Amino acid sequence: MVVVSFRIRKCHFVQLLATCLVLSTVMVCWEELDNKVVSHVKSYSFRYLINSFTYINKSLTIPHKQARSFSNFHYLLDHPEKCANQDVLLLLFVKSSPKNIERRNAIRSTWGNESYIQNTLGVTVRVLFALGAPTTKENEPSWSRKSGFGFQEQLVEEDRLHRDLIQKDFVDSFYNLTLKLILQFHWVHSRCAHARFFMTADDDIFVHMPNLLKYLQNESARGVTDFWVGRVHRGAPPVRSKYSKYYVSFETYPWLSYPDYTAGAAYVVSRDVAAKIYQATLALNASIHIDDVFMGICASAMGLSPQEHPYFAGEGKAPYHPCIYDQMITSHSHVDDIYDLWRAATDPQPLTTRTTVQQKWREMSELFKSKVLSQISA
Ligand SMILES: *[C@@H]1O[C@H](CO)[C@@H](O)[C@H](O)[C@H]1NC(C)=O
Ligand SMILES: *[C@@H]1O[C@H](CO)[C@@H](O)[C@H](O)[C@H]1NC(C)=O
Ligand SMILES: *[C@@H]1O[C@H](CO)[C@@H](O)[C@H](O)[C@H]1NC(C)=O
Ligand SMILES: *[C@@H]1O[C@H](CO)[C@@H](O)[C@H](O)[C@H]1NC(C)=O
Ligand SMILES: *[C@@H]1O[C@H](CO)[C@@H](O)[C@H](O)[C@H]1NC(C)=O
Repeated sequence: MVVVSFRIRKCHFVQLLATCLVLSTVMVCWEELDNKVVSHVKSYSFRYLINSFTYINKSLTIPHKQARSFSNFHYLLDHPEKCANQDVLLLLFVKSSPKNIERRNAIRSTWGNESYIQNTLGVTVRVLFALGAPTTKENEPSWSRKSGFGFQEQLVEEDRLHRDLIQKDFVDSFYNLTLKLILQFHWVHSRCAHARFFMTADDDIFVHMPNLLKYLQNESARGVTDFWVGRVHRGAPPVRSKYSKYYVSFETYPWLSYPDYTAGAAYVVSRDVAAKIYQATLALNASIHIDDVFMGICASAMGLSPQEHPYFAGEGKAPYHPCIYDQMITSHSHVDDIYDLWRAATDPQPLTTRTTVQQKWREMSELFKSKVLSQISA
């Protein structure tokens, strides 16, 4: 008798202990759980079950005069003639920040080399860099501090050499990315509205230009409109944790889910879409600082929705594999290796006749591995 009740109590005790453990874990991690699980469940139900797209309402619309406060910054650097009298297939804006001169130079001498693309692929492409103004010390590279030569003067010098910086006088910072987005669509509207496609990309991206241009030429020949492709985020919930850099308050965005949008790393729109986004920026409150989300809000206000393309990368790298590699369009998080990727992309031998496919792939993987290892040991 005594033994049985002892067993029961022991068993209850274990149950009680387990329950307490689970409850305390849930309590400690509640915010995390709420952000990761609950908010996604809520947002998906909201997005797909309740009222799909009708939630963004007039509360984001503001008078034109107030909307202008997001766009009426002065140009510090500009090239109004860049597209003039040219049949431009693609205008590509790279979102860069003043200190990233090395990334800009790498892009200029690889996938962003306009004259190479013109000569070898026979396509007119314009590649420009969108910048805000440098102000803070940490934004300043060491060579600038040492030389005592102002940072803005360095940019002016860089621009004199390459004539490809478009800069306005708002502070270049993560929280001002939406201002940079607006800069791009306004520039396109006033200087390059006839380009058949417009693309925006981060400055640590690799673009496989031959694949991208082949794809766009085909789409252009079919006369596509309402074209907006990239890696699509569907029914993403706003981050409500104040510690995240993606935090968005209920006041700024009261709904449970963002409209579908393409990852800001790289996406392409046709010129009619670019014109509609421009129109939307004239009437919407742009105080949400996440630029790709704001693009999604503009698009949804204009009745546009994005298309997924499997060969556009989101946050990640495209895996190094020859089969993927021969079709990839963009891949994210590349800085040092873009020269190698570009060499491989412009290899004149087609994949099927390459005797060195395996070797190339092995080289790529080795390179990747050594990069990762050096990063780990650094
Ligand atoms: C817009 O939606 C919000 C949140 O659902 C609601 O509180 C507000 O009253 C709506 N405003 C208009 C003008 O419909
Ligand atoms: C761009 O390509 C051309 C060849 O078409 C080459 O002469 C030029 O040096 C390249 N530009 C850069 C910045 O590498
Ligand atoms: C964004 O730019 C404006 C205009 O230069 C500036 O007043 C503001 O401080 C900037 N915001 C951030 C978060 O850097
Ligand atoms: C061109 O686009 C059409 C329709 O999307 C597709 O079926 C075809 O395979 C594409 N051709 C090329 C060469 O990409
Ligand atoms: C835009 O939104 C912000 C944040 O929600 C708000 O503080 C601001 O008053 C709004 N602007 C206008 C003109 O309504």
